[in-house]
Amino acid sequence: MTPIQETIINKKTTSAPIWLMRQAGRYLPEFRKIRKSNPNFINLCLDENLSSQITLQPLKRFELDAAIIFSDILMLPYGLNQKVEFKKDFGPQLGTLNLDEISKVDEIDFIGKLYPVYKSIKRVSENNLIKNKNLIGFVGAPWTLLVYMINKHSPKKELIKDFFKDKFLINKILIILEKFLKLHIDQQIRSGATVIQIFDSWAGLLEEKDLPNYVYIPTLNLVDYVKSLKVPVICFPRGVKNYKNYCDIVKPDAVNIDYNVSPMSVCKEINIPVQGGLDPKILLTDKENLKKKAKKYLDIFKDHPYIFNLGHGVLPQTDPNMVDYLVKMVKDY
Ligand code: CP3
Repeated sequence: MTPIQETIINKKTTSAPIWLMRQAGRYLPEFRKIRKSNPNFINLCLDENLSSQITLQPLKRFELDAAIIFSDILMLPYGLNQKVEFKKDFGPQLGTLNLDEISKVDEIDFIGKLYPVYKSIKRVSENNLIKNKNLIGFVGAPWTLLVYMINKHSPKKELIKDFFKDKFLINKILIILEKFLKLHIDQQIRSGATVIQIFDSWAGLLEEKDLPNYVYIPTLNLVDYVKSLKVPVICFPRGVKNYKNYCDIVKPDAVNIDYNVSPMSVCKEINIPVQGGLDPKILLTDKENLKKKAKKYLDIFKDHPYIFNLGHGVLPQTDPNMVDYLVKMVKDY
């Protein structure tokens, strides 16, 4: 068993494995070099040679326990023929959502469009650097994908006023998303992904009363599906107020917490393995402070199955030496 499987499946608490969200990304000069000559982000994700190389970059530098495949949650709307572009200093920009258009896409079309992603996963899984480590496949949760598909770009702090106006459209999209998310998960696992993480980055935008319809039920369907494939599933419902309710209803194998949650209360209230929490901004300070803040999480979770990670992705301004220091510190704890 890998260290992450020991933690999630055997509930081992003797040492915390570590990987970081966005561990392959702009803070690494070797990534920026490839990115510079590949201005089209989607095409970069679809280049199996480059995306497998990028996935392995952080494992060459740091003693991490997992790689996460270099791709994006928005490859799913892309696979459904909605236009997706990544604009510099703006982020993702999606094209018009045409229900007739996305309803026409079948399984063969979808797999055909995303085939390089699966080939890249296969390549990474066959590399020596991933031996006795996990290769994490991922998807966006239905709610977060719905937000991007309707809103067309990252929401600032709240949803557009008439977001829920067309309930017919929303329900149709949720049905299509469920079908293709399952397919995308299945294909990633067949290609060599050994853990699945579900990112619900915009779960925090919903009021409590809307969580069952848009977050709990659609995510539970996916969680049950991943479990049926005998692969551990980690959920990250960023920004939800009540992680305990979420875990009780959605029942993931492990939960990633964001940096606004009190790790102490989570440790007391939640009895499944926990991942993450540390504010990525701490990596922009100094080593002494980083050690203190990281140690806080390790101390609190010392008798709880815990995977070290952040409360959101590594920031582009991060000094790779700070990541190196953090990984070594967690390993030496
Ligand atoms: O290292 C990894 O974590 C693996 C790859 C990965 C990426 N995106 C690559 C990426 C993963 C797991 C994601 C998930 C993702 N993508 C989420 C969920 C997690 C989160 O951040 O909340 C979301 C919401 C997206 C959508 C997305 N992709 C946004 C909003 C942006 C622009 C803002 C940003 O963070 O840069 C992206 C672009 C993106 N996805 C980059 C990377 C490395 C940066 C691309 C670049 O300009 O070089």
